[in-house]
Amino acid sequence: MTLHVDSSSSLISPSIGDDVFSQGTPVKLGILASGNGSNFEAIAQAIQNGQLNAKIQVLIYNNPDAYAAVRAENWHVPAVLLNHRNRTREDLDAKIVEMLQLHNVEMVVMAGWMRIVTPVLIDAFPDKIINIHPSLLPSFKGARAIEQALLSGVKITGCTVHLVSLEVDSGLILIQAAVPILANDTQETLHARIQVEEHRILPAAISLAVQNQLLKC
Ligand code: GRF
Repeated sequence: MTLHVDSSSSLISPSIGDDVFSQGTPVKLGILASGNGSNFEAIAQAIQNGQLNAKIQVLIYNNPDAYAAVRAENWHVPAVLLNHRNRTREDLDAKIVEMLQLHNVEMVVMAGWMRIVTPVLIDAFPDKIINIHPSLLPSFKGARAIEQALLSGVKITGCTVHLVSLEVDSGLILIQAAVPILANDTQETLHARIQVEEHRILPAAISLAVQNQLLKC
C-alpha cells in the first residue's frame, strides 16, 4: 500500500480569512522573544501587508544573541534587552512590565519567549497576553513539545495560540493548526513545517482576539 501524505495541506480552526482583520485604531503590541524571531517577522509582515491592524511598539528579548533583535532593527522597532541572568523571575517580569508600559503596550505577544512568566506580568496585562506553542495543546506542554510529539508516536501535531494563564501552556485556546508527522521527520523538519503554520495563525489570532474583544484594549 502506498500512503500519500500531502505535507502542504493544513487544517486551521477556527478558519482564518480576511474577515478577521480588525477595524479602527491599530492595537499596540509588545513582543517578547528569546531566539530567532521568525514569529516576530511574521507579525511585522502581516501588519505591512494590511492583514493585521496593529503596531509593534517594542520587542523585548532576554538573550543577547537573539536574532529577533536584528529583525526588530530591520523593521525600525525599538528592541530592549532584559537579560534574565542574575535576576529572579519576578524581577525580570517587573522590568518587562515597566518597559511595556513605557511603550504604551496594550497587548503582549510571547513569540518564542522561553521563560516561565509570573503573576507580576500576568496581573499587569490580565487576559491580554498571548503565546504561541508548537503542539496541539493540551498535548505536549513545556519546552520540548516537538521532541515529545515525535517520541510519542502521534501522527498529527501542530501549533496553538492561547491566552497566557498562571499554569504553563494552559490558557484559553484561540487558534490551532494541525500538522501531519511524516515517516522520516526529524525535530528540524517537523519544526519547519509547524513554523509555516505558526506564521499563519499568530497574526490571525491577534486579529481575532481584538475583533472578538477577548482582549479588551
Ligand atoms: C516557535 O516554534 C514557538 O512555537 C516556540 O518557540 C519557537 C520560536 O520561533 N515557542 P521563532 O523564534 O519565532 O522563530
